[in-house]
Amino acid sequence: MKILVVGGGGREHAIIWKLKQSSIVDKIYCAPGNAGISELAECVPISAMEFDKLISFVKENDIDYTIIGMDDPLAGGIVDAFENANLKVFGPRKNAAILESSKAFAKNLMKKYNIPTGAYETFDNYEAAKIYLEKQDMPIVLKADGLALGKGVLICKTLEEAQQGLKEIMQEHKFGAAGNTVIIEEFLEGPEVSILSFCDGKTIIPMVSAQDHKRAFDNDKGLNTGGMGTFSPSKFYTNEMAKECMKTIFQPTVDAMLKENRPFVGIIYFGLMYTKNGMKVIEYNARFGDPETQVILPRLKTDLLDIMLACTNGTLDNMNIEWYNNAAVCVILASGGYPVSYTKGYEITGLQKISEKKNMIVFHAGTDKKGGKIVTSGGRVLGITGIGDNIDEAIKTAYEGVEIVNFNQKHFRTDIGKKDYK
Ligand code: AMP
Ligand code: GLY
Repeated sequence: MKILVVGGGGREHAIIWKLKQSSIVDKIYCAPGNAGISELAECVPISAMEFDKLISFVKENDIDYTIIGMDDPLAGGIVDAFENANLKVFGPRKNAAILESSKAFAKNLMKKYNIPTGAYETFDNYEAAKIYLEKQDMPIVLKADGLALGKGVLICKTLEEAQQGLKEIMQEHKFGAAGNTVIIEEFLEGPEVSILSFCDGKTIIPMVSAQDHKRAFDNDKGLNTGGMGTFSPSKFYTNEMAKECMKTIFQPTVDAMLKENRPFVGIIYFGLMYTKNGMKVIEYNARFGDPETQVILPRLKTDLLDIMLACTNGTLDNMNIEWYNNAAVCVILASGGYPVSYTKGYEITGLQKISEKKNMIVFHAGTDKKGGKIVTSGGRVLGITGIGDNIDEAIKTAYEGVEIVNFNQKHFRTDIGKKDYK
């Protein structure tokens, strides 16, 4: 089969790395891709939001199946556009991708179907939100409704902070139209775990667990980022918790979407928090996580394309998905200054050396080719995944890789995988 993957980050690199091992894949294209992806796939300079151009490209090149990696095109209806053109595509339609693209939709769905989540109210009127805030206990959480690159969530310790945050979201439009509606949510505490799952509209099969490190600096200091590193499996998520989540969260979410006439086909990413009152949903994403994918897919034994096709064809209940009984850790190498401001275009060295190492994979996020060299082109530049029999071994391997690769102003956390929860 000929495949097109839409996106160009570390997540898409990991998806393509895994697809490359499939016996039924003949050729992979990626739009727009990056320098690392170009080693495995033919990159085409079409952006993820240019649906018409992508559709023409697929038709002209007889591509059999398109896989959407990113959230923006899903929220914008890329799957509907492909289906209307009679093309086979992996991902949720717009009316199901709303599970991620509107936090208000997600919260209301959870309330309606009794799926455990933090208490909340939704507002599209600034004055009403302001009055409500004054009566709440602190800390409190403010969330812009729409997609805001993972930055639309404010955790406010004091009323003053919350009032300022509300003003920034609703009046100063710091997150653009994403802030026309705001969710004011109870502050929850506990360790977080990411559970990604395959869905065919009716059946849901969770993947192995992962944990993300969202803050820019060690010991969870600094600003929230898209993710500075991940590890799999989680250290606290037990089989009992998985069983309970299947009963109270995973299957009920898929059933609820079906009931609402929004069958979910693709990946549901459950962002969960283990609170003193049990597991609660913090957020849903309608796609693979980045950089969760970089630790999850290296642990997958089964052919990824077979699973994706089973999702699209509605036959996931016949699928037996197998995983390696090992561990993986991904350390992100970022550009100094990320997530605020940083310089791009620095040469990256050591990539050849690292490709010869065992149990180590480099996934490119923000890289480009310039004059025969590979250079930095984004905030998150590379993810180095180490694989081992356990987390400690995987940490050691990942950090060996971190030392091999270099570029100007390389920034990384030194504590990825070291979170411990009793
Ligand atoms: P989200 O984009 O909804 O995943 O939120 C980003 C991060 O903010 C989450 O991973 C949590 O660490 C934190 N967060 C979100 N909602 C809450 C909440 N209700 N209480 C405490 N922390 C939260
Ligand atoms: N790592 C968080 C996300 O992909 O949303």
